[in-house]
Amino acid sequence: MSTSGSVPLPGGPEDESPEKLHAFVRELARAAGDLHLSRLTDPGEIREKGPKDLVTEVDLLSEELLISRIRERYPEDAILSEEQGGEISPTGRTWLLDPVDGTANFARANPLFCVCVSVAEGDRITHAAVGAPRLGDIYHAWLGGGAYRDSVSGGTYPLRVGSAGSLADSFVGADVSYRGSNDPRKNGTLEVFKRCWQVRSLGSAGIRGAWLAAGYLDVSIGTRNTAWDYAPTALLVAEAGGQVSNLTGGPWTYDSDGLLATNNETLHAEVLEILATGGG
Ligand code: IPD
Ligand code: CA
Ligand code: CA
Repeated sequence: MSTSGSVPLPGGPEDESPEKLHAFVRELARAAGDLHLSRLTDPGEIREKGPKDLVTEVDLLSEELLISRIRERYPEDAILSEEQGGEISPTGRTWLLDPVDGTANFARANPLFCVCVSVAEGDRITHAAVGAPRLGDIYHAWLGGGAYRDSVSGGTYPLRVGSAGSLADSFVGADVSYRGSNDPRKNGTLEVFKRCWQVRSLGSAGIRGAWLAAGYLDVSIGTRNTAWDYAPTALLVAEAGGQVSNLTGGPWTYDSDGLLATNNETLHAEVLEILATGGG
C-alpha cells in the first residue's frame, strides 16, 4: 500500500478536482457527525451482531446517510461499508465507510466515537476523514496534500506526528482484549505495553490513528483489521510524517490482519522487533 508521495488522482470524473472530492469527504464526516450528536443519548435499538460486537440504530442511519450522498454524487463508485458490506474495486474508486467507529463507546454516550470515511483508488488511500463530533474535531488527509484537523471553532490546523524516538518515551494506543485469548501476537503487544511510558486504550481505531497523526500518541497497534477501520490511519499518519505497516513490517493492505503506526523509523523498528519476538 503506497500512502506517501504526491501523485495525480486517476479515475475521477473529468470535472472533479481532488480539492472538490476532498471537500466532499469532509462534508460527509461533518454530516454523519451531526447525526451522531443529534442521537447522543438516544442510540436506539442496540444489537449484539457478534460476541461483544455492537450495532446501534444510529450506525445504520449514519451508513444510510453516507451511502445515499455518495450514490447521488458518484453513482459509478464502489462502496465497502461495515454494516451493508460491498466490494473494493480493483481498478476504480472505492469508498470505505465505518458509519460509527467506537460503537461500544457511543452506545453509552462516551465521547470517543467517530465516523471514518476513506477513498481508495486501486491500492492507494487517496482521501480520508475521521469525524469525532463530541470532540469537535474532523481529522482529514489527502494523498500528497498533508493531514489536518478542522476544529469546531472553524480553524484548520496541520497535523504532525510526535517526537518520541524510543518506546520508553512513548504513549502507546491499542485496544486489546486478553479475555479468553491465547493469540501469540498479544504477548508481543503486552510486552510493548510493559516497555512504553503510558498506555491509552480509546475504543476507537479511527480516533487512535488520528491521535497518532496529531502527536497525542506515538505508537498505535491494531490487531483486528478491517479496511474501513485502518484506511484513515494509513493516510493520516503517512501525511503527518509517520510510519505505517502491517504487524510484521510489510506494507499495510486491505487484507492485512493488523496495522502498526508510529512516529518514525527507529521507533517503528523497535516495536516490530518486540511484536515479532514477544520480547523474549
Ligand atoms: C471497533 C473499534 C475498536 C477496535 C475494534 C473495532 P466498531 O470498531 O474501532 O476500537 O478495537 O477492533 O472493531 O465496531 O466500533 O466500528
Ligand atoms: Ca470500527
Ligand atoms: Ca462501526
